[in-house]
Amino acid sequence: KAVETEDKSSDVVWHLASVSHEERVKSHGHRPAVLWFTGLSGSGKSTVANAVDKMLHDLGCKTYLLDGDNVRHGLNGDLGFSDQDRVENIRRIGEVSKLFADAGLLVSTAFISPFTVDRELVRGQLQAGQFIEVFIDTPVEICEQRDPKGLYKKARAGEIKNFTGIDSAYELPLQPEVHVKTAEHSIEACAKQVVDYLKSHGYLK
Ligand code: PPS
Repeated sequence: KAVETEDKSSDVVWHLASVSHEERVKSHGHRPAVLWFTGLSGSGKSTVANAVDKMLHDLGCKTYLLDGDNVRHGLNGDLGFSDQDRVENIRRIGEVSKLFADAGLLVSTAFISPFTVDRELVRGQLQAGQFIEVFIDTPVEICEQRDPKGLYKKARAGEIKNFTGIDSAYELPLQPEVHVKTAEHSIEACAKQVVDYLKSHGYLK
């Protein structure tokens, strides 16, 4: 489903930065990474990502959070929910995440990101070990019961088309680095699971 994007920058020359990536990382005291939260609408991506971001911030890490709804109001305000627009949505978020990782941050992103190939494209753009897929694995029945924004109700009534989990696909992550079950654990425990992954894999000093 990946869209071929025409490269119109072939005559643009890459500028070398005066402050190197290594110097930025050294000054932050932790390794950079992109925590890529993926899951259905209502699964708890944003909630857990926010809790992780706060925990990391409180530990003194340099962090940033990119959240689906907020980014769709700004950078990706021109995109809807067709397969093609979702692909472009994730491509742009991937590029932005890469910049933040280059700046040495621990970036959390909370997007449905329903297609495996797009998530793997982002992984492939980052340095080895910088992409951490966090699968927020909440069954669609539970997401629909929660329905915090009333969107499942609208999708069932046919008022929203191409709704993920109803009439648009969600491809399950097969080997996520972190597998979180929000229906079984508290938000704090889910967030701790992610932070513990970072600690046990040497991202935090
Ligand atoms: S995607 O698939 O990654 O491009 O989607 P994302 O940028 O994460 O945006 C998902 C949020 O948009 C709202 N919304 C929809 N979601 C899924 N399908 C359809 N058709 C749709 N229309 C609007 C919804 O609030 C999603 O927010 P979350 O936080 O996931 O519930």
